[in-house]
Amino acid sequence: MAKTTRTAAIDIGSTKVACVVAETDAGKKTSIIGYGTAPPDGFKQGVVVNLDRATESVTSAVAAAEDMAGGKVKAYRTFVGVSGEHIKHLEGIGAVPVRKPAKGIGQRDVEDVIRQAQTIRLPNDEQILHVIPTQFIVDGQKGIRNPLGLFGVRLEVEALLVIGAVTAIENIYRVLERLDIRHRFLVLQALACSFAVCEEDDKELGCALVDLGGVTELSVYREGEIRFVKSLKVGASNITKDVAIGLRTTFGQAEEVKCKHGVAMASMVEQDETLEVDDASGRGTKQVSRRLLASIIEPRIEETLNMVDAEVRKAVTGEGLSGGVVLTGGGSMLQGADVLAEQITGMPVKLGLPDRLIGPKEVTKDPRFATAVGLLKYGLEGRYLFEMPGSGIWEKLTEDIRGWFS
Ligand SMILES: Nc1ncnc2c1ncn2[C@@H]1O[C@H](COP(=O)(O)OP(=O)(O)OP(=O)(O)O)[C@@H](O)[C@H]1O
Ligand SMILES: [Mg+2]
Repeated sequence: MAKTTRTAAIDIGSTKVACVVAETDAGKKTSIIGYGTAPPDGFKQGVVVNLDRATESVTSAVAAAEDMAGGKVKAYRTFVGVSGEHIKHLEGIGAVPVRKPAKGIGQRDVEDVIRQAQTIRLPNDEQILHVIPTQFIVDGQKGIRNPLGLFGVRLEVEALLVIGAVTAIENIYRVLERLDIRHRFLVLQALACSFAVCEEDDKELGCALVDLGGVTELSVYREGEIRFVKSLKVGASNITKDVAIGLRTTFGQAEEVKCKHGVAMASMVEQDETLEVDDASGRGTKQVSRRLLASIIEPRIEETLNMVDAEVRKAVTGEGLSGGVVLTGGGSMLQGADVLAEQITGMPVKLGLPDRLIGPKEVTKDPRFATAVGLLKYGLEGRYLFEMPGSGIWEKLTEDIRGWFS
């Protein structure tokens, strides 16, 4: 009988917890076979603030995905997204003498140098999530992506170290333990997301990924690898709050009119219409103009995109990003968000949909699932084996590393 394997992803976003389950068949074809979401109670912007409630939220998203897929997530390798303001990145460097210069650089040399890049002094409350080599240097020759087999006496590496707060990470582990999910790997959300919505070529040329969710997470890629990540405090949730205040209506109504009738720029409302919304007082409804709605949304989305643009400019000095911008996350569905993003950044903007895995359109055509699908792709490509300290490969580097570098 053909062997199939299953993989799960849990994305803890600021507006929802999502779980997606995929199955890979003997021919290596992967399809999404289950998904579920739940409100992120017990979390505040991805960080656990109430263990019991957080556990319930994840349980309910997982249960919905399990019902659909038939099976238990705890039996699968599970990739879990982490994000939040506690995430930062540093550059790590390592240098080692090549063990057997006459034979060329071997796997153990690569392993040694990457291990050395992690030996930085971190405060006790921080830990490394990913170690991503950005270039190798052999006897001073820079810009090498794959040093295996090259001749040289000295091997150096520059790596991006993604770091998170120990408490935030441990609390997510505790939630997963309560669900008995033990075969789990924590992955930076932005990095995972890029595996769902960025083309390899764009990452190679240089691109920025803007995940416009409840809050905004920006990441920048060059020469195929992540170079920069930053969580901004503002995002699509702020737009809803502004609409609730501006239209004097409830948060729920504001969310609904924003998603149904919202536009990123007031000038894009060609013919004004009137919309009916509940009054905040709870007594009756009232009529508001769509142009007014757009004029409330515009300054907030503009502010958010201006912050993105400023960060991109800080992160990218000189060479620019010829791969442009990929916009994803629920906020990317706001009508005209891409047009405004093009105006503000002066770069071409593509909308990123997680449609590179086969699956129900409710997932593959919905940018809110970009991170969850990206977590699956990240896991399926086996990158975690190399990029995550403690995931096992450091002790048993094998032939696989060739595949990674080639
Ligand atoms: N059609 C739409 N127009 C505008 N905004 C939308 C639309 N659909 C969803 N959104 C907004 O997208 C946001 C949710 O996006 P998403 O699910 O990507 O966020 P998240 O993953 O929960 O949060 P984060 O990634 O920031 O932690 C909400 O603020 C929601 O209002
Ligand atoms: Mg998200």
